[in-house]
Amino acid sequence: VPVEAFDMVIFGATGDLARRKILPALFHRWCDGQIPENSRIIAAAREDMSTGEYLERASEFVNGDKKAKAWAAFSDRVTYTAIDAHGDGPGWQTVRDALDDDPAKVRLFYLALPPSVYGPVCTAIGRHGLNTKASRIVLEKPIGHDFHSARQINEAVGAVFDESAIFRIDHYLGKETVQNLLVLRFANMLLEPVWNANGIDHVQITVAETLGAGERAEYYDRAGAVRDMVQNHLLQLLCLVAMEPPVSLDGDAVRTEKLKVLHALRLIRAEDAGKCLVRGQYGAGLIDGSKVPGYVEEVGRSSKIETFAAIRASIDNWRWAGVPFYLRTGKRMATRRSEIIVQFKPVPHDIIRADAGVLQPNRLVIRLQPDEGVKLMMMTKDPGPGGMRLRYVPLNLSYADAFEADYPDAYERLLMAVVRGNLALFMRRDEVEVAWRWTDAVIRAWQDGACPLHTYAAGTDGPSQGSLLLSREGREWFDGDHA
Ligand code: BG6
Repeated sequence: VPVEAFDMVIFGATGDLARRKILPALFHRWCDGQIPENSRIIAAAREDMSTGEYLERASEFVNGDKKAKAWAAFSDRVTYTAIDAHGDGPGWQTVRDALDDDPAKVRLFYLALPPSVYGPVCTAIGRHGLNTKASRIVLEKPIGHDFHSARQINEAVGAVFDESAIFRIDHYLGKETVQNLLVLRFANMLLEPVWNANGIDHVQITVAETLGAGERAEYYDRAGAVRDMVQNHLLQLLCLVAMEPPVSLDGDAVRTEKLKVLHALRLIRAEDAGKCLVRGQYGAGLIDGSKVPGYVEEVGRSSKIETFAAIRASIDNWRWAGVPFYLRTGKRMATRRSEIIVQFKPVPHDIIRADAGVLQPNRLVIRLQPDEGVKLMMMTKDPGPGGMRLRYVPLNLSYADAFEADYPDAYERLLMAVVRGNLALFMRRDEVEVAWRWTDAVIRAWQDGACPLHTYAAGTDGPSQGSLLLSREGREWFDGDHA
């Protein structure tokens, strides 16, 4: 469905995010006829160059798309302006002239910039009088480095834009399977009655990457896995699994339920660090059979930053009392794999007493990427004679097999959601701050609790201590492929 025509100013338009993600996402939506002709895209950055030069550079990331004619038509919507985004200067007048002065037309400001300048750029937008009633501001994670910096940024942005006009992107919320979590949970009667401490033993959330961190060393070496991935992507997934049913999919309804989960997350204390936290950093190893250097060689300096983290999280509320949520993320792991695994409890009494095979509890595997799908592991009887033999088999929904349609990628969906004003897919201020409060406690706990930084070989599942976190409690990490 096409959206209303809009104007969009991309600050930081020459950066990686804008060229790799934002512009291609807009172009794909244009090709699908979703963006009306009288929309305008104003690319703004520090460098001096012409619109032609900018488009030439930007096309590098859409060339593969072969749609030369469509690109030419899309390009007509784009102008480039050199600007001092948190200062003054002539660029601001050029932006003003390029914008439609219809106050009802949706106007987006996308800050593809480091979070440290979010505040100053918003102040400049306000000072130059560009913030209309129909304006929206889009910010990328990370919002800050800790609770205090997040609060400062939120204050500065909030001084110019109303909370209902602030769209904080966590691109995981734009992923197809992440959205499907809501449908899976709340459009099926089957799951909800057992979706609690009575029916569920524990939950595992794994986001494993094979990529290293080296190319973004400047940022990553100050952040590490917990700030970069857990504070946002993994906690958002945890919230969607754990939240109470919202009354609707309205932005505030969903976000209020997520916030309650974040409030209920138990703050990890230094004395619990040994039982709840594992940190690792990759050394040299093999990825797809090729040698790769360790993190320290990659970033070119010694570093104590973690590229792997495993955390045993607890949610102190009625629904989840006593159900651990094990979170795990790492770079340079054996395979790229993001999944949520919900392990149900065993049946209360075994009446089968099978001749062969063991009764195993149900397990729900939600694969976010790659090979999106949902798999429910069930016990069945092995068909045929030979007595009661049990088999643990999947009810398997593979997206590739079940759905033909090509679905939009996370950025495409999120950008259109901003234009439509759908806040449900974005983080609210209080969510970000409460998530930081928990994350700060994790970091403090491993500093005060002297949590060691283990080394793991690139191309493995992380340090062996990551398994201890579960095996100590009689559990193990599952791999959805072999669930
Ligand atoms: C980003 C992190 O938010 O997410 C990166 O900063 C990470 O470090 C990326 O690689 C992972 O996203 P995806 O969509 O590839 O799983």
